[in-house]
Order: sequence, then C-alpha cells, then structure tokens
Amino acid sequence: MTGRIAAIALLVTMIGLAAGLAASWGEDGRIRTGRMIYEEHCFRCHGLNGEGDGPEADSLVVRPANFHAPRIRAKTDFELWMAAAYGVAYTPMHGWLTRLTDEEILEALRYIRELAPPE
Ligand code: HEC
Repeated sequence: MTGRIAAIALLVTMIGLAAGLAASWGEDGRIRTGRMIYEEHCFRCHGLNGEGDGPEADSLVVRPANFHAPRIRAKTDFELWMAAAYGVAYTPMHGWLTRLTDEEILEALRYIRELAPPE
C-alpha cells in the first residue's frame, strides 16, 4: 500500500515537472497572451507600459497604480493577485474574478511583472 502511494506521489511529481517545463518552453506565447488580456482590460487605466497613465486615468477619483513604483514592485505575487482578483476597496479597481478566469488574471499579472519586474 505504501509503495503504491509512493508511486502515485512520484507520478504526480513527474506530471508537475513536465507541466513546468512545458510552461517555460511556451514562454513567448504565454507573455503574448498576458499582453492581450492586459491591453484589453487593464490598459485603459494602468497604461500601455503600466505606469498608471492610461486614457481613463485622469477621470478616476483614485489614480490607477503605477506598476513601476517601488511599493508595487515590492509586493508579493499573492498581494497583486488578491488586488486583481478581488479589487482594491474604495477605488475604481474592482475585482476581476467576475469577468476573467483565474488563469487569465495570472497571465495579466505575469505580463505586469514583465513590464515592471519585482524588486
Ligand atoms: C477602471 C480603471 C482600472 C482598470 C480597468 C484596472 N485597474 Fe487596476 N487599479 C486601478 C486603481 C484605481 C487602483 C488602485 C490604486 C491604489 O492602489 O491605490 C488599481 C490597483 C491595481 C492593483 C493593486 C496595486 C496595489 O496597490 O497593490 C493591481 C495588481 C491591479 N490594479 C491590476 C489590474 C489588472 C490586472 C487589471 C486588468 C485585468 C486592472 N488592474 C484594471 C484602476 C484600474
């Protein structure tokens, strides 16, 4: 029985490694997808280069985050995920889970990290 559990654990690990490799091989495609999602949904506020200067930025009560700011680059992926998925209270940044899938939000966040790498 223990042997069987070990075998299953090994199999799961191998599938995980294979998926990880596939993801890094697909790097270009992955970033392009993130960019498409970003430009469709986030650009109008956060700007093409993520500097918080999109075409709608000036009309908002709270300015969109500039992803190049040290305070954002210092945030963990988890913090960015929570903000993107559930929104930032009392700001025009609503949560995106109602419109995008988990994976689409992740792709957009990966693209943001490409634009402004974490510190
Ligand atoms: C309607 C304008 C608007 C749109 C569209 C928008 N945002 Fe925002 N976003 C904001 C504002 C305003 C803030 C709050 C700024 C702050 O942190 O005080 C913000 C904050 C954030 C933060 C949190 C920064 C922090 O302070 O931790 C993340 C992450 C983020 N946005 C990601 C996204 C992503 C990803 C998209 C597209 C799927 C998106 N935003 C679309 C306006 C927008």
